[in-house]
Amino acid sequence: MSGRGRGFGGGRGRGRGSPGGGRGRGSPGGRGDGGRGGRGGRGGRGPPGRGGGRGGRGGGRGGGRGGMKGGAKVIVEPHRHEGVFVARGKEDALVTLNSTPGIAVYGEKRISVEVPPKDGETVAQKVEYRVWNPFRSKLAAAVLGGVDNIWIAPGSKVLYIGAAAGTSVSHVSDIVGPQGAVYAVEFSHRPGRDLLSMAKQRTNVIPIIEDARHPLKYRMLIGMVDTVFADVAQPDQARIVALNSHYFLKNGGHAVIAVKASCIDSTASPEAVFAREVQKLQAENFKPLEQLTLEPYERDHAVVIAEYRPNKKK
Ligand SMILES: C[S@@+](CC[C@H](N)C(=O)[O-])C[C@H]1O[C@@H](n2cnc3c(N)ncnc32)[C@H](O)[C@@H]1O
Repeated sequence: MSGRGRGFGGGRGRGRGSPGGGRGRGSPGGRGDGGRGGRGGRGGRGPPGRGGGRGGRGGGRGGGRGGMKGGAKVIVEPHRHEGVFVARGKEDALVTLNSTPGIAVYGEKRISVEVPPKDGETVAQKVEYRVWNPFRSKLAAAVLGGVDNIWIAPGSKVLYIGAAAGTSVSHVSDIVGPQGAVYAVEFSHRPGRDLLSMAKQRTNVIPIIEDARHPLKYRMLIGMVDTVFADVAQPDQARIVALNSHYFLKNGGHAVIAVKASCIDSTASPEAVFAREVQKLQAENFKPLEQLTLEPYERDHAVVIAEYRPNKKK
């Protein structure tokens, strides 16, 4: 289990905005749609052989159509988290490959990049990326904070609890790609409307407008998933995660939970709240793996990651 800084239970995030996952000192990105994801040090931790260099998978040069600084040349490189990319331009930004080119989901910036022709092709192709703003998405904040593993990758099946209007869900949809699926649960009808219209464009998103406290109501819509992501900002979030995991999370799957301390107990210190949430997960057959705070993007928030081991030997 790796906790950042002060170890599990009190871990502080690295808080360095380096989109490449490296350790460059970063200034956080700006607020607002498509805000820059932080200017970070070069030298992301892309493992060798995964196209980490220029011209690797997803690499290429492009202009800033609809994104980055007007017309600036941008190079897109794979991040060490598969399915996530870094656009390197005047300012670096975390991006995902847009599965619906030409369409922005929430007004985020898009970056069109020319990729070299593949074998047998003569004409260069264009692909489009969407800027993933860590101030708008706790998962993006966790990636920039240096989380070891988000357990969401191409092909993953994800149950996303607390989908809201689908801002972050859309990026998860980009990451998991056509072989993956995102079951997106949201109980509030107002953001639910936007979620539904986003899902019309993205066939790997299955929107579910229900209360996540009652998973039986949507059990017929969901298969077994690899990962449960939760961001419901509710005092009983751990119970909601456990309940859904008992139905839908495969043995050995993972829960990735955004914990907002003040929503759970505004009288206790955030570190004490995070520690208690971890204990609640342990009591539900989860093995804690990692915890990091989301500063500088979110105050008094942590992401807790745990493995589901319902059949563990006692
Ligand atoms: C912090 S917001 C989620 C933001 C979203 N994850 C994003 O990054 O765009 C929390 C959302 O959880 C939803 N929510 C809270 N309790 C819920 C429940 N029991 N079932 C389903 N959704 C719930 C709220 O309506 C709200 O939209």
